[in-house]
Amino acid sequence: MKFFIDTADTKDIRELASSGLVDGVTTNPSLVAKTGRKFVDVVAEICAIVPGPVSAEVAATDFDTMLKEGRRLARIAKNVAVKVPLTVDGLKTCKALSSDGVMVNVTLCFSAAQAILAAKAGASFISPFVGRLDDVGASGMALIQEICTIYRQYPAFKTEVLVASIRNPTHVVDAAKMGAHVATLPPNVLRQLYAHPLTDKGLAAFLTDWAKTGQSILDDQPEERVAKAG
Ligand code: G3P
Repeated sequence: MKFFIDTADTKDIRELASSGLVDGVTTNPSLVAKTGRKFVDVVAEICAIVPGPVSAEVAATDFDTMLKEGRRLARIAKNVAVKVPLTVDGLKTCKALSSDGVMVNVTLCFSAAQAILAAKAGASFISPFVGRLDDVGASGMALIQEICTIYRQYPAFKTEVLVASIRNPTHVVDAAKMGAHVATLPPNVLRQLYAHPLTDKGLAAFLTDWAKTGQSILDDQPEERVAKAG
């Protein structure tokens, strides 16, 4: 499963990317607005930090302008994935850009029918928003299961399921069980994935017992012992 980070905060991206576990980044107009910075500059900086796909969303809603914006965004860096909303004009833009070899992430997906259209339009990624479906009493993970099942019936579909609007580690684990290709994680959720109280407790016990030995691994060079042993 690939892990993308769902933020435009380059400080968070730099910190989490240093783990070696970050395969890409997704942004959206709301996340970019939070930075207070120039959109193109933020995208360029993120693309330089993370070599994997970096989603940058168009702002227009009509095909002609979406296509112009998408081509402009694609010129920022080779790892830009142009994000378009799941509308008729968004799908037309997806078809045109993907035909030009541009990565496209079709976003704001809330039904399996929409996901089928995105795959037919040649999307590189489809972004179903699981948290927002849960927020209205629907089941985001049921949608992921539906989409993964449908996509598996059609090997010609090259679209990867990019689970978005993730709220907690359970969303990540359940998406992995279903075979979703990518999870895009808010920074705090990625940090939550590492944490388990039993790990902390067990490590503390190991360190306490190790301290009692009075030894240091770095003091005794194994090659010295071998030489002494003759
Ligand atoms: O960036 C796309 C998606 O992950 C946003 O999720 O619902 O937390 O705004 P949300």
